[in-house]
Amino acid sequence: MMKMDQEQKIDLVRIANQVRKWAHVPYSNYPVGAAVLTESGRIYDGVNIENAAFPVTICAERVAIFKAVSNGEKDLKAIAVVTRNGGMPCGSCRQVMAEFSPEMLVIVADEKEKITAEKSLADLLPGAFRSDSLV
Ligand code: THU
Repeated sequence: MMKMDQEQKIDLVRIANQVRKWAHVPYSNYPVGAAVLTESGRIYDGVNIENAAFPVTICAERVAIFKAVSNGEKDLKAIAVVTRNGGMPCGSCRQVMAEFSPEMLVIVADEKEKITAEKSLADLLPGAFRSDSLV
């Protein structure tokens, strides 16, 4: 797991919490915010964006990661995910994390910015299907 100091973690959680106000959640009323820290030191945020055609909805984590990747940044050091109650990242988002940075740190916090979980992605998605599976 990549080393991060406590101050960086608190910053990432704060950003993830602050962007929750931009979530588009008319159906669930469950705003999620995410903030990804890249190995280069940049931060990309994201929110969940729902759709009247429900399955089209995308999670906050994937929005943040796709913003990083679409700016040329694939080496992800950590992601903070904030919800009202410290909900854990879904399986699809874990799979997207595994594509880019299987050892990244995943920090989960609630709306009071209390960290409720802090784990390596390898612990959250052991045995992930990755490019080296495609032989
Ligand atoms: N959601 C996320 O944004 N991230 C997760 O990891 C879990 C779920 C969103 C999707 C949907 O907009 C709402 O939370 C309820 O499922």
